[in-house]
Amino acid sequence: MNIQRVGVVGAGTMGNGIAHVFARGGFDVVLCDVEQRFLERALGTIGKNLDREVAKSKITAEDKSSALARIRPVTDRGQLAECDFVIEAATERFEIKTEIFRDLDRVTRPEIILASNTSSISITKLAALTKRPEKVIGMHFFNPVPVMKLVEVIRGLATSQETFAAVRDLSVKLEKTPVEVNDAPGFVSNRVLMPLLNEAMYTVMEGVATAEAVDEVFKLGMNHPMGPLTLADFIGLDVCLDIMRVLQNGLGDPKYRPCPLLIKMVDAGWLGRKSGRGFYTY
Ligand code: 3HC
Repeated sequence: MNIQRVGVVGAGTMGNGIAHVFARGGFDVVLCDVEQRFLERALGTIGKNLDREVAKSKITAEDKSSALARIRPVTDRGQLAECDFVIEAATERFEIKTEIFRDLDRVTRPEIILASNTSSISITKLAALTKRPEKVIGMHFFNPVPVMKLVEVIRGLATSQETFAAVRDLSVKLEKTPVEVNDAPGFVSNRVLMPLLNEAMYTVMEGVATAEAVDEVFKLGMNHPMGPLTLADFIGLDVCLDIMRVLQNGLGDPKYRPCPLLIKMVDAGWLGRKSGRGFYTY
């Protein structure tokens, strides 16, 4: 499979990170979002993150400008028609992804792979929306995408071995480490991580300890680079809540009940770092 031009749908935190690593890896990138201002913000973020890599001598200033030049921002999904591979990194809602996958199936060449960076939605269900379920797969990156080595590669029920092998090889070309996982709510990463963050929120809600104290326990006692509440703010509390609901609905066990404090904070618009307030103030 010859993949040179890659489409990235969604220019938010994950989408801009994914566009960054593909462009840095030498691929041409068509970055698609619904509004021009989201694309401009994404290009600004990619530029700043590439600057960090220039400052650390990981890449040269020329590498930075050629990577940026390889990214073409578009608002028209029809422009993805010429892509050899498309990855969707839109908002974590099944209705939104349904619309996108149906449209991608229509606008892209029938032989290309459609991947999703979903953090918990069923790949099998996304695949069933298309006429090419064997070519639909999960390619789950981690935030910050330019730094984190893992790509969780998720096989849907119908995903073919050829599709799996292509995405595994693509991950290696991006200097990432692919890990194979089968389709199940939250896969492995969020099935295990989110209940940890959710439980940390319960300890704050119940007054067992402050957010700072909970985070210190994990940083100093378990060597986590960020405590669970700092990490929840970093991921986005709305994203954490959406994932807890996928686990709750998909697995049915009451242990996946979202923490009421999490629900309240999301209702208040306290979404973590991106909104300026979460468990901490930014
Ligand atoms: N782009 C490029 N480089 C970046 C970057 C970015 N966005 N953010 C940080 N960096 C680089 C820095 O330049 C630095 O490079 P160096 O090692 O060469 O010096 C390195 O990353 C470390 O950054 P800092 O020194 O600024 O800060 P820290 O040492 O505190 O590390 C961190 C920051 C890498 C974010 C670290 O705190 C960490 O690993 N945190 C945990 C992150 C995590 O768990 N992510 C997964 C979230 S779950 C997820 O994404 C799944 C989803 O489905 C919810």
